[in-house]
Amino acid sequence: MGLSCCVCLWLLLALALLGASAWQCPRIPYSSTRNFSVPYTLPSLDAGSPIQNVAVFTDSDGPVAVFVAIRNRILLVSPELRLLSVLVTGPMGSARCEICRLCPAITDGPEDTDNVLLLLDPLEPWLYSCGTAQHGLCYQHQLEVRDGKVAITATHCLYSAMGNSPAFCPDCVVSPLGTSATVVATSYASIFYLGSTIDSSVAARYSPQSVSIRRLKGTLDGFSNDFQWLTVLPQYRDNYTIHYVHSFADGDHVYFLMVQPERPGSAAYHTRLARLSTHERHLRRYRELVLDCRFESKRRRRRSGEEDAERDIAYNVLQAAHAARPGARLARDLGINDTDTVLFGAFAESHPESPVPQENSAVCAFPLRLLNQAMEEGMKKCCGTGHQPLRRGLSFFQPVEYCPHNPQGLSVNLSAPVVDTSCWDQPTLVPAASHKVDLFNGQLTGVLLTSLFVTAMGDVTVAHLGTAEGRIFQMVLQRSSSYLLTLSNFSLGEPGPVRAPCVPLTSTLRPQVWLLNVTGPGCRHFSTCQRCLRAERFMGCGWCGDGCRRRHECPGRWVQDSCPPVLTDFHPRSAPLQGRTRVTLCGMTFRSRLETDPCRGPRGACRVAVGQRGCTVLPEESDSFRSLPTSRRKEFVDVLVCELEPGGPAALGGPADVVLTVQEPPRPSGFRVYGSSTLGGFVFVEPHVSALHPPFGPRGGGTHLSLHGKHLSAGSSWRVMVNGSECALSRQPRYAPALPLALRGPQQEFPAPVPFQYRPDPAVSAVVPSCSYEGSLLTIIGTHLDSVYRAKIRFEAAGVECKDPLAPDRLLCHSPAFPFESNVEVVPGNLSVLLDGADGRWLFRLRYYSRPKDPRAHGALSGQQLGLDAVATCMNITMTVGGLDCHPSVLKNEVTCRLPRELRLPPAGAPVEVGTPRVGKHPPQCSPPHPC
Ligand SMILES: *[C@@H]1O[C@H](CO)[C@@H](O)[C@H](O)[C@H]1NC(C)=O
Ligand SMILES: *[C@@H]1O[C@H](CO)[C@@H](O)[C@H](O)[C@H]1NC(C)=O
Ligand SMILES: *[C@@H]1O[C@H](CO)[C@@H](O)[C@H](O)[C@H]1NC(C)=O
Ligand SMILES: *[C@@H]1O[C@H](CO)[C@@H](O)[C@H](O)[C@H]1NC(C)=O
Ligand SMILES: *[C@@H]1O[C@H](CO)[C@@H](O)[C@H](O)[C@H]1NC(C)=O
Ligand SMILES: *[C@@H]1O[C@H](CO)[C@@H](O)[C@H](O)[C@H]1NC(C)=O
Repeated sequence: MGLSCCVCLWLLLALALLGASAWQCPRIPYSSTRNFSVPYTLPSLDAGSPIQNVAVFTDSDGPVAVFVAIRNRILLVSPELRLLSVLVTGPMGSARCEICRLCPAITDGPEDTDNVLLLLDPLEPWLYSCGTAQHGLCYQHQLEVRDGKVAITATHCLYSAMGNSPAFCPDCVVSPLGTSATVVATSYASIFYLGSTIDSSVAARYSPQSVSIRRLKGTLDGFSNDFQWLTVLPQYRDNYTIHYVHSFADGDHVYFLMVQPERPGSAAYHTRLARLSTHERHLRRYRELVLDCRFESKRRRRRSGEEDAERDIAYNVLQAAHAARPGARLARDLGINDTDTVLFGAFAESHPESPVPQENSAVCAFPLRLLNQAMEEGMKKCCGTGHQPLRRGLSFFQPVEYCPHNPQGLSVNLSAPVVDTSCWDQPTLVPAASHKVDLFNGQLTGVLLTSLFVTAMGDVTVAHLGTAEGRIFQMVLQRSSSYLLTLSNFSLGEPGPVRAPCVPLTSTLRPQVWLLNVTGPGCRHFSTCQRCLRAERFMGCGWCGDGCRRRHECPGRWVQDSCPPVLTDFHPRSAPLQGRTRVTLCGMTFRSRLETDPCRGPRGACRVAVGQRGCTVLPEESDSFRSLPTSRRKEFVDVLVCELEPGGPAALGGPADVVLTVQEPPRPSGFRVYGSSTLGGFVFVEPHVSALHPPFGPRGGGTHLSLHGKHLSAGSSWRVMVNGSECALSRQPRYAPALPLALRGPQQEFPAPVPFQYRPDPAVSAVVPSCSYEGSLLTIIGTHLDSVYRAKIRFEAAGVECKDPLAPDRLLCHSPAFPFESNVEVVPGNLSVLLDGADGRWLFRLRYYSRPKDPRAHGALSGQQLGLDAVATCMNITMTVGGLDCHPSVLKNEVTCRLPRELRLPPAGAPVEVGTPRVGKHPPQCSPPHPC
């Protein structure tokens, strides 16, 4: 084509963020900011055999001694866990057990003493120990503190020969199946509140009873025989087992926590709280309440629906409990005063129809004041006016009875002066459940908690949780939150359920006692400076060069007030020497708090340099990246976008470091970001365009251009200019090992090596024939068809590329495949001719037939059978015999032709072919002596 125009093509650096938006900073998993596999060694004492009980003796200065009970021994240990002395408590009848002689021999032969209770008197310096030997007798050990040292000065056997018998035994205190107890001191006596598990054999002789209140006699030879009890009725003793988990005193009450069947005959278990008044000995004011600790899914809380109900989990079996004062923050969250006692319970979900816990735990907090309130309100329901008959409950302790004032709808006037208070003087299961939601929101899945100890550290409430696998979690307790605030999580070294009656820890299977400071085992599990300095202050953590340490563990500089920023990644990794490439920086600790951003503040608080070049921070761009959706719970990343300042003419290529410097001003509290972080791997390059493909295209545009060269993917955005007009990028520059296929530029211009040639615009005037089928040849007729590098035709959705033009006015294309539905022979539709992108500018109506069948494969010569008759209406059919055209005529039922005269039929016959004009061949010439 004569007319052509050569123009120059340029690549430009552009400001449009075409490239950068596709790249995102890799997220940093929160789990990588701490390492719970870091080992800690706690001070410990090996007691020689499994620990059965621990009691800590304190005076006004804190712990003075620790008593550790094992089989047949009580060890007296210093608060630092140094063994001071050993008291032999068994076997009963052995010569080595001196205190055994204080008790009369009730049983024959040596009997091991397993310690069931180890209690300190709240008023006197007395230690009580109760064992399995001798039907559960107790000893009282008198302690003396001299120069800060504790010694056992005298021991009494709490037993008197008089007044005890197999049928009635006030001195038989503990059950071999387990007992929980609290001692309350009054001005005149110490009172034991006891909850014991019994069965028919324990109950048959010297029964300790289920719940009892016993007064220690002033003569220290046992318990007063006027004691009161409630005990499981004989018919339930073997199938209604009450497991006493914990007991404590608060105010005027003593509380027990039990796991037991929901009702006699039921196989489902739940947790109950029992309350006894310290003002009465008769257990008439004995109350029980069901404690319900559960996780409710958020969906459920938003809108209740049937299908969601099963996603709620009831943690029905209590594993451990601790009543303690909450820190101020949790108190506020719970809507109570921080002087209120809160009952914290570690609960588990049980296996169905069993009290055996599964590895699925929760911690619930029950403010005692609210529990007491629930009991008062429940009693008013029982003793006040009501419409439904209410049962007293506790049918395993007492005969079935209805609340007397509201039997079957009889009503009573509560405003009337009360004459009869007998309704209140009867043990009652209060008809209300105290329902609390898991503080950990169902996140302790896969964990079985076995112990719980809660302390308030300043405003913060810290729970020390032991697990069945021998790990300790120290966690901040707060109102149900979506993430766990774990202060530490470490192993005691060997597996085994952890018990923690207080902060000396024990494991039910192991002979060790460990000492755990409430401030935690250490700080080394925090892997990042930010984590380290965000840790609760009482943990005493500081950043020591490359790790989190306590001050005394840090040989170098120990900082508690600042962290350097941390770069983890950046993009792009290369930029042209000049030009304003935008660089995205990723990492953490770019700022100390969300609400203030040092990179927006006074100049110099936040600087980025790439090699010798400054990079201006773009706060708005950085913000838009920050708002990208993240899974807040699991991962995070800090993002900063900056724009390279233009390099001077002397800018050097080659590798460069990316350096981020943040210098927040000092703050009155908390830490600030101060320091810099360097990451290598950036490189300045000189891009170069070496080839352009195709080299020409129509003036009207639409040609798909490819640029090849070196370093074309450097930088952050690209524009291609052809003769001053922008050529939109259809794809990111990318690196291809052989010939990079790319377009590019950051505000620096790179000329293409050869000019691009503009040719006259093509035009299409006709397409012949007007019908087609898959693979048949179409001829496009027009002008300047050779201005186009790649022509395409498309029938409806099916497209195909054409062959190179035969001549400027003629272009041949095979018809594209078109999926025919069965039974459809012809589809009318639009054929579009696409010449370098000018979509649909040339449209032609066309009938599309299904492809004629090959007569050789079908052995038929009927036009209809082959599908030729339809096609014959718009295009010529060829038939050859022995390779010679015989000018066929196609009728519905036959294809006929006259044999060419010159054909000499060989004896074996000549091959016959039927078809449409062959692709690319000119129709056979008709000339004498071959008349058509
Ligand atoms: C975590 O700490 C353990 C023990 O020090 C170490 O073996 C392990 O490599 C650490 N894990 C990571 C991810 O740093
Ligand atoms: C089990 O409890 C039922 C009451 O629910 C009682 O009738 C039955 O005797 C008890 N069975 C045994 C074996 O103790
Ligand atoms: C908490 O209780 C104390 C003592 O009863 C009382 O002085 C204080 O005002 C209470 N605080 C709140 C917030 O109720
Ligand atoms: C309840 O008793 C009070 C005091 O005796 C009396 O004033 C009141 O009318 C009574 N209410 C009903 C509903 O009987
Ligand atoms: C607990 O740790 C703190 C700080 O680490 C220390 O001051 C205190 O003495 C420790 N307490 C015990 C009982 O070791
Ligand atoms: C069919 O053949 C005739 C005679 O050879 C020719 O004139 C005509 O153009 C052909 N038609 C098509 C559609 O090719």
